[in-house]
Amino acid sequence: MSAVLKPLEFDFRPMNAADLDELVRLERAAYPYPWTLGNFRDCLDAGYSCWVAQIEGRLTGYWIMMMAVGEGHILNCCVAPAWQGRGFGRQLMEHLIDTARAHNTGFLFLEVRPSNLPALGLYRRLGFDEVGRRRNYYPADQGNEDAIVMRLDL
Ligand SMILES: CC(C)(COP(=O)(O)OP(=O)(O)OC[C@H]1O[C@@H](n2cnc3c(N)ncnc32)[C@H](O)[C@@H]1OP(=O)(O)O)[C@@H](O)C(=O)NCCC(=O)NCCS
Repeated sequence: MSAVLKPLEFDFRPMNAADLDELVRLERAAYPYPWTLGNFRDCLDAGYSCWVAQIEGRLTGYWIMMMAVGEGHILNCCVAPAWQGRGFGRQLMEHLIDTARAHNTGFLFLEVRPSNLPALGLYRRLGFDEVGRRRNYYPADQGNEDAIVMRLDL
């Protein structure tokens, strides 16, 4: 008898208020300048597209996107540190892109730090192009850091 190992995949479900504490815990583990609980709550209250990704029932990633008149703005996209580098970021973004397409979104925008090489690599891999820079957009250890603005046509 041979056992067939199925690759691990995220289960996606809409985010809800009961997730907030766990989201903040994960966010703090993943980002040097994390969102607050209020940032997540505001996104839920505003009705943005907010999804969590689970592995074996554990919250392991999430993404948040604001959609309006045919365009989507990606506000957050995160995989728990212990699960990074194993293809889950790609799964997360593919779910986001499928969701955007299902809402007739024509293109996506996002901002990313030039120093965030894993995120830049992921977005380029998915076909995002750099379309601009916002000077001194992010707080950083010494002063501020620019944001690279990226766009994907769907
Ligand atoms: C960015 C992030 C979501 C990527 O998730 P991940 O699960 O590590 O990514 P994956 O394993 O799916 O890799 C997908 C692609 O990303 C790129 N990538 C991943 N890790 C990378 C690294 N350390 N350096 C360069 N590129 C990398 C590669 O192109 C990779 O594709 P490939 O393996 O086919 O070459 C994850 O690092 C993360 O959550 N970081 C903290 C939060 C964050 O910075 N979010 C983005 C805010 S703009």
